[in-house]
Amino acid sequence: MTEKELIEQAFRARDFSYAPYSGFRVGAALETSNGIVYGGCNIENAGYTPTNCAERTAFFKAVSEGCHDFCRIAIVGGKEEGDVVADYAAPCGVCRQVMMEFCNPKEFQIIMAKSIEEYQVFTLEELLPIGFGPGNLQ
Ligand code: THU
Repeated sequence: MTEKELIEQAFRARDFSYAPYSGFRVGAALETSNGIVYGGCNIENAGYTPTNCAERTAFFKAVSEGCHDFCRIAIVGGKEEGDVVADYAAPCGVCRQVMMEFCNPKEFQIIMAKSIEEYQVFTLEELLPIGFGPGNLQ
């Protein structure tokens, strides 16, 4: 799968965003090491704190089906409708920590996109340096 195809899948996941409170619609497409893609969207709640980010939705879908090996995630988010957003949507700190649980920080790639043409790629280590993970508890 190309980076552009994964970004397209993130936009498709974003179509399902449930964000009546913030209006900030996020989609993620998480690719496993064997090429399966799990989509996720943000799911807000009237109680606010139960809100789940798009990235964690994708991770929890995958882990709940037995997948623990991931290579990259594409993320798109913003208040606009459609397949272009105004800015890059960076994963929040909680989502970075969930990534740290399951991904090699030197290898796992985070693709932040505004469109299929305009995107940036980071490793998890770049976004979460000196992270705390499963290795610290061994
Ligand atoms: N959001 C995500 O889905 N992912 C992030 O990493 C940052 C924030 C969502 C949560 C909430 O529904 C909305 O964006 C505004 O914070």
